[in-house]
Amino acid sequence: MIKKIIKQFTDWIVIFKKIIFHSKIRKYVFSNPRSLLYTKYDSVIENALYGKANELLRNRELEITIEDYLSSYNIENKKEEINIPIKYQGPTDSISVFETQVLCKLTKGIKAKSIFEIGTFEGRNAVNIANNIDKNAKFYTLDLPQKICKFEVGKYIKEKNHKIVQLFGNSEKFDFSKFHNKIDIMFIDGYHHYKTVLLDSENAMKCVKDNGFIVWHDLDFTQLGTSYAIFQICKKYNLQLKKISGTVMGIARKKPGNIIK
Ligand SMILES: C[S@@+](CC[C@H](N)C(=O)[O-])C[C@H]1O[C@@H](n2cnc3c(N)ncnc32)[C@H](O)[C@@H]1O
Repeated sequence: MIKKIIKQFTDWIVIFKKIIFHSKIRKYVFSNPRSLLYTKYDSVIENALYGKANELLRNRELEITIEDYLSSYNIENKKEEINIPIKYQGPTDSISVFETQVLCKLTKGIKAKSIFEIGTFEGRNAVNIANNIDKNAKFYTLDLPQKICKFEVGKYIKEKNHKIVQLFGNSEKFDFSKFHNKIDIMFIDGYHHYKTVLLDSENAMKCVKDNGFIVWHDLDFTQLGTSYAIFQICKKYNLQLKKISGTVMGIARKKPGNIIK
């Protein structure tokens, strides 16, 4: 309890220092005072710094249904049943059941054999997707080491689930080299901060095969730092970014010949 109060207090000191010394953040907080009621102060800072994502998110051409998206790439939208074993949607869950279905449709449509998720959390998404992939397919999922997480990383992942490979490490420092050009779908749902999302996306560009897909979670007005990083990476590699209707998921297909800088 005392630790929590001290943490809250230090967060306040950090944000007040930033409000005082950074004019962009000061302006944002004065015009959105309610933002200070957020518990995640770092989101307040990110939203203040990357406000330009607001305008990009308003683009009406950004959104598309999953059905239209798949058909735009001639990907079969299989009608076969999607089985989602862990449906519970508690306050800490991040992926909705519909978002899981979207990922499953893409996975089945392209017959994905290798999927890489950054951000395992309790492993709900990993188990749900792995339940719908080919028996020879692999679902790699990376999260921070257990000793620095307050929750049980991958608690839903049972040992006998041979399709799931749990990896531990900080995505900013993780060595992705053995996954280069090996991944069909990379799902980015780790640290939701501009610089990390940018770095995770650069790594995704290296890991995903030509014509493979990158899917980002939190392309949304509430996560402007994450959203701006997604727009930036798609601009850099000339990727056609779309947002799937009814979700906060961005998606882009890696083009053959994309030169990764
Ligand atoms: C939003 S949750 C992921 C939810 C999960 N994809 C699901 O659908 O259940 C974000 C996760 O990213 C992890 N994370 C945060 N920073 C990270 C980093 N630098 N490297 C790896 N994982 C990170 C957190 O520990 C957290 O478990």
